[in-house]
Amino acid sequence: MSKPVYKPNKEFAKNARIKNMCEYNDLQEWASEDYEGFWGHYANEKLDWIEPFTNVMDESNFPFVKWFEGGKLNVAAQCIDRHLDTRKNKAAIIFEGDRGDKQIITYLELYYNVNRFANLLKKKFGVKKGDRVVIYMPMIPEAAYAMLACARIGAIHSIVFGGFSAEALRDRIEDAEAKVVLTADGAYRKDKPYMLKPVVDTALEGDTTVEKVLVVERNGEDIEWVAGRDYSYNELIETQDVHCESEVMDSEDPLFLLYTSGSTGKPKGVQHNSAGYILWAQMTMEWVFDVKENDTYWCTADIGWITGHTYIVYGPLAMGATTVMFEGVPTYPDAGRPWKMVEEYKINQFYTAPTAIRVLHKMGEDEPKKYDLSSLKVLGTVGEPIDPPAWKWYYEEVGASKCAIVDTYWQTETGGHIVSPLPGATPIKPACATFPLPGIMAEILDPATGERVEAGETGYMCVTRPWPSMIRGVWGDAERFVKSYFGDVKKDGKPVYFTGDGAVYDEDGYITITGRTDDVINVSGHRMGTAEIEAAIKKHPNVAEVAVVGKPHDIKGEGIFAYIVLKSDDGIADEVEEVKAINNVIKKEIGNIALCDDIVFAPGLPKTRSGKIMRRILRSIAKGEAITQDISTLEDPSVVEKIENMVKSK
Ligand code: WTA
Repeated sequence: MSKPVYKPNKEFAKNARIKNMCEYNDLQEWASEDYEGFWGHYANEKLDWIEPFTNVMDESNFPFVKWFEGGKLNVAAQCIDRHLDTRKNKAAIIFEGDRGDKQIITYLELYYNVNRFANLLKKKFGVKKGDRVVIYMPMIPEAAYAMLACARIGAIHSIVFGGFSAEALRDRIEDAEAKVVLTADGAYRKDKPYMLKPVVDTALEGDTTVEKVLVVERNGEDIEWVAGRDYSYNELIETQDVHCESEVMDSEDPLFLLYTSGSTGKPKGVQHNSAGYILWAQMTMEWVFDVKENDTYWCTADIGWITGHTYIVYGPLAMGATTVMFEGVPTYPDAGRPWKMVEEYKINQFYTAPTAIRVLHKMGEDEPKKYDLSSLKVLGTVGEPIDPPAWKWYYEEVGASKCAIVDTYWQTETGGHIVSPLPGATPIKPACATFPLPGIMAEILDPATGERVEAGETGYMCVTRPWPSMIRGVWGDAERFVKSYFGDVKKDGKPVYFTGDGAVYDEDGYITITGRTDDVINVSGHRMGTAEIEAAIKKHPNVAEVAVVGKPHDIKGEGIFAYIVLKSDDGIADEVEEVKAINNVIKKEIGNIALCDDIVFAPGLPKTRSGKIMRRILRSIAKGEAITQDISTLEDPSVVEKIENMVKSK
């Protein structure tokens, strides 16, 4: 049965940047006929070049691709300086703290704050172009200043999400060989202070490449200060010069690293470079959210994830928009908080994750009715497939059946959206990412033949031509970059970018993402490699073997299910204690975000005779599904029934 179709709101479409499917098709046709002409046009139109580029794209060394060679620019200047003539008193960032404290930062203030921060890094800490700076910060405006200050002086930032543990932070610091860490004492969550600086202290114990730590004092709680290493932002910032020359950067100079999970144990440092990334961040802001000059836009992501990078900081600021930053949690003090903020700030575009929508729906179904949400024009979702009931509630109750829902499909590696509805043009279907954006040659391919799949057949979501904001490398590991993304699918004999996701076309050519084809799971929109969780659990001295799989979860989308074989049975004397011990190891190695929802202490794991763990069987057992595949070839088929019984009796 085909899904219902919702046409774009006519009033909205009249003023939208892309007004109908004809315009969309024209753009897509232009791109496919004259790819370099298309991108060259937008790069000239959208960016302010210090020196113009001489070549749009060089793919002679594919997949090591270069965009806009010869061009010089500075990303922080794209986000700030070029708006000063026309927008200096416009709000760049509206900040709301967990406790309701507010700050409005204009573009001129942003310019001063970023320059001061940049001078501090440059003059006090000796940070130079190309140095790596790790940012481990809460959702406060200083986190945005930190990113832009790095961009201004040409340093490469690597943000580590505040939910990661000291161990995980240390791994990322070491891999990037960071010189400086920018952090805060902590922040507030649900009206209570929580801490970050102690985590940094633990991460930096022993030998480290880190020379200096800058601490924003946000909650004023007591922290340790290491003399000669730790400095207070609050004390130093006021005396810094408000002008700082921006570093002249090549188009392909790195802008940032962001570590993400893959199918092996170690997270990879996804590298994005300057011009291509900022170009697509701006273009997608304009096309997908259709933000207008007087609009107020709010993305609820955390800056620790790619969504926070592209759609809280870089994209909105590059286009000169007003972006809202929120420190708190959406359900505190109650599940009406986001709607209260929508009413108060007259938010026009609201962008969040399906997991948040499910929580808000479950905890506060009627909350949207209590507020005036009439300012809303576009609603967005990102990070995981959205289920139809959550979609319906979002569409009807939050959007009053008049706002387009843009189900944006993309990933850390793509830099910005690649498949998404356009709010004024695309007739949408619930829970459907719809079509590739103009300029993006995204296709669902059959991995065996490299041909486009037929409607109804699941295939691999690929992009067949490099695009400007494509990942440029895995930090320090060129081989892994090539192998991870360009090894699985070939079209016409040539490797193409494979996202790791499965997808399907419907009879109208609409794309629905079906989920990962690898061992990566999506917990509350956080991307977690099962191999990474397994590597953590293996650090427990009594663990012999472990296999982690995803299991559908009402709120989180997917939950984490671990099958563990202990070295000795003595440990299971107290199962509750053992579960606690396992979770403590995870907490230490990765952080609370990777805690298991279910742990089963299994007598063994289902393996082939060559020793490969049959995860498909474990996934079926976790879901409570009947095992349909042939298990007679397993090394020990009896283990399957034993595990099934254990799971059933839980
Ligand atoms: C998943 C987040 C379905 C997908 C921006 C992808 C989605 C991974 C959607 C990337 C969507 C993202 N519908 N699934 N609209 N958006 N995903 O790197 O599996 O944190 O590969 O980037 O999230 O997660 P990442």
